[in-house]
Amino acid sequence: MKLLKDKIIQEGKVLSDTVLKVDTFLNHQIDPQLMKEIGEEFANRYSDEVITKILTIESSGIAPATMLGLVIGAPVVFARKRKSLTLANNLYSSTVHSFTKKETNEISVSRDFLTADDNVLIVDDFLANGEAVKGLLDIAKQSGAKVVGVGIVIEKGFQRGGQLLREQGIRVESLARIKSLDNGQVEFLD
Ligand code: G4P
Ligand code: NA
Ligand code: NA
Repeated sequence: MKLLKDKIIQEGKVLSDTVLKVDTFLNHQIDPQLMKEIGEEFANRYSDEVITKILTIESSGIAPATMLGLVIGAPVVFARKRKSLTLANNLYSSTVHSFTKKETNEISVSRDFLTADDNVLIVDDFLANGEAVKGLLDIAKQSGAKVVGVGIVIEKGFQRGGQLLREQGIRVESLARIKSLDNGQVEFLD
């Protein structure tokens, strides 16, 4: 997606050989116009699938997922990282290990919002080692929902998440795929 790649080049900051900061439009401040076009791009790429629900994880997955939900008319459910007071027992839950943050967190989704009747598209902002997506896949599996694919805004192709998912036969659509962040430069895969 050219618009997104241009934005990454213009505003992204390479913090190290593995971390890209995109706080000006995705992870802190959000660019609504760009998010709208990201939603439209996901909708186009998955136009051959019937999607009844979009599943993401708080916080940075919510903006792109919601824009897609607006375009296709499907509700968006975000996995919570902290237990909500009103959620209590009725939950699917899984664990997500972050290699970046060196911590393991429990994520959860209410059983009210995901069922075996759902066709789910999983959406997230970054794909690195694929741990967050793995947790969301686990939750979808517990619900009996069918997962039609995974939509990612920025995939770091030099980390193993994308390969692990595609090896399992999961359709992964990433709007920008980064080949390398070496020497402070962003290099894209395609
Ligand atoms: P993984 O799920 O693919 O294994 O990724 P990892 O554990 O490494 O990522 C932990 C957090 O860091 C996630 O956000 C993920 O989106 C984010 N992340 C991973 N690599 C990068 C990167 O290069 N740049 C940026 N900006 N973020 C990255 P999170 O902790 O869930 O936070 P939130 O922003 O969704 O609240
Ligand atoms: Na995320
Ligand atoms: Na993030």
